[in-house]
Amino acid sequence: MKGKPVAESVYAELRGRLAELNFVPSLHVIRLGEDPASVAYVRLKAKRAKALGLRSTVHVLDEDTPERELLELIAALNRDDDVDGILVQLPLPAHIDVRRVLEAIDPAKDVDGFHPVNVGRLWSQGPGVGIVPCTPAGVIRLLKHYGVTIAGKRAVVVGRSNIVGKPMAALLLYENATVTVAHSRTRDLAAHLREAELVVSAVGRPHYLKPEMLCPGAVVVDVAVVRTEEGLVGDADPAVADVASKLTPVPGGVGPMTVAMLLKNTVDAALRRRG
Ligand code: GUN
Repeated sequence: MKGKPVAESVYAELRGRLAELNFVPSLHVIRLGEDPASVAYVRLKAKRAKALGLRSTVHVLDEDTPERELLELIAALNRDDDVDGILVQLPLPAHIDVRRVLEAIDPAKDVDGFHPVNVGRLWSQGPGVGIVPCTPAGVIRLLKHYGVTIAGKRAVVVGRSNIVGKPMAALLLYENATVTVAHSRTRDLAAHLREAELVVSAVGRPHYLKPEMLCPGAVVVDVAVVRTEEGLVGDADPAVADVASKLTPVPGGVGPMTVAMLLKNTVDAALRRRG
């Protein structure tokens, strides 16, 4: 299950919608410090936003910027009617309280979907009311594109982060899967995986997922991207391809979907906010 053609279909839809608008949505990305992965991700987000014809601004702050200054910038962007989307790239330096930062973003402009209001809307109402985190939303889109039935399936999500695992579980539940969330303290992960018809792994431990842990014919979505000497690798051992009926490659699987869904969130947020 390659991500690029699916991301392209998202961009094609967005181009159609943007052509109907009498304004150009704007995305503001905030990055603190020079974490190499964050530098690369933020650059990619801005590049794709521009390519789609959105306005995008990147705010680069020093690693040691006081939390108060970051909160002031967010408050200014919240007040600015011309700003449609705000994203603070994670992880943040240790002296900053992530919760306070995410809660400071106007939920209507929170294109990451990490504000508690959006998290609550996702769990209580499902997607469509608030803003949904980009990576799990991209996974659902990918599965539907490749004709994977989710309803009724036994799904195991490995990883319980706020960015991927938890919202992934909420979306799969909304799609009527029976969902198990496994994590670092799960006893006998293999026993859970052997029952799973759909596995979404977001751990970041290169090649830990072995073919003998899986039910033959399982659909496997590999969300991890880890930089090693061999290049970018995922959670799934290459031999998983021999037992899975469908598998996402790393790189080129979920990755392209994340940015596409971010830009979709930006256009959705702009339309909703501006009526
Ligand atoms: N860091 C890793 N993934 C993400 C993401 O989806 N959004 C933000 N803001 N930071 C991240």
